Amino acid sequence: MRLFSAPVPPDFWVSSSFNSWLLPSGAAPEMEGLAIHAEGNEKTPFYHEPVLLDEVVEHLAPVEGNFFIDGTLGGGGHTEALLRGNATVKGIDRDAQARAYASERLREFGDRFEAVAGRFGEMARLASENDWPKADGILLDIGVSSWQIDAAERGFSFRSDGPLDMRMGESELTAADIVNQWGEDELAKIFREFGEEKSAWRITQWIIEARVLKPFETTLQLADGIENLLGRRGRIHPATKVFQALRMAVNDELGELARFLESAADLLKPGGRLGIITFHSLEDRMVKQHFRDASRTELDRPEWPTPRPNPDYRYQLLTRKGVAPGGVEVERNARSRSSRLRVVERI
Ligand SMILES: C[S@@+](CC[C@H](N)C(=O)[O-])C[C@H]1O[C@@H](n2cnc3c(N)ncnc32)[C@H](O)[C@@H]1O
Repeated sequence: MRLFSAPVPPDFWVSSSFNSWLLPSGAAPEMEGLAIHAEGNEKTPFYHEPVLLDEVVEHLAPVEGNFFIDGTLGGGGHTEALLRGNATVKGIDRDAQARAYASERLREFGDRFEAVAGRFGEMARLASENDWPKADGILLDIGVSSWQIDAAERGFSFRSDGPLDMRMGESELTAADIVNQWGEDELAKIFREFGEEKSAWRITQWIIEARVLKPFETTLQLADGIENLLGRRGRIHPATKVFQALRMAVNDELGELARFLESAADLLKPGGRLGIITFHSLEDRMVKQHFRDASRTELDRPEWPTPRPNPDYRYQLLTRKGVAPGGVEVERNARSRSSRLRVVERI
């Protein structure tokens, strides 16, 4: 497969939760009736470059007979690397288009691969209902794909007009529901906390006034309005953080991660490894704290005469610091630069 050095849209340069799919240029293919909104050419109609791929393979170290769960299948880039190590992989994605694409791409691996509909926050239920064995490794590569972003009708992008939707899967809530119905405190909170948006309150006030005159329906209605309100300085679109916050709220992204972390250890066999790639500081902090807490053998408190065994001890930390992409990867794929990989091993 030929590698392309795809240009990075300026408005994603600081989007900390944007993933790394790189799209070659050319015609958009059709697959099972789905228009794939990626540029491509005849030979390589679509491809992406998974972030930290070598690091994932190094830490998860697939060998023949291994069983892995990829909780964020996407286009199947990481899964393909695990399959090439002769492992068996169940790839979960909440997005039907991602599952269809990956199934087509990974067809050559036969029954060593299966795309599974669902959310990684419900991985324990999926594993038990489907009688999956304990895993040698689990991977999450959290975020949204370029494919999702580039499909205007999915409503993730402030660059092209589409319905204000942002659902990765089949949730009921859309971004338009949030913008048109949530109260000012709730709106300001997500803009501030999920988006780390300094003008959260000002943007909220504008939304509350504007939606009375005309409810928000499209991405550009919101994006252009924020741009008019805040003005534009530099290359970064002023709606970047609001869009990120809405996406995280629509898809309950932090809730998904919390539910997954609660049950992940029980899904791994002893010596099995869990790798999580994040693109957002809030998510990275959650993973870091969970891994740190679950890898302490003992707990100590000032009021205790001696340290006590940690009842939540589950893991050995394999990456004290998050693994960041190297200079070559960032140079080739600027979208990778905010990614961090943390890995633990089940004791
Ligand atoms: C960053 S992409 C994954 C890219 C993939 N690692 C690859 O190499 O192609 C993230 C994918 O995870 C999916 N996703 C995000 N949150 C999810 C969740 N809670 N449960 C299941 N899938 C999720 C998205 O639909 C998207 O397809």
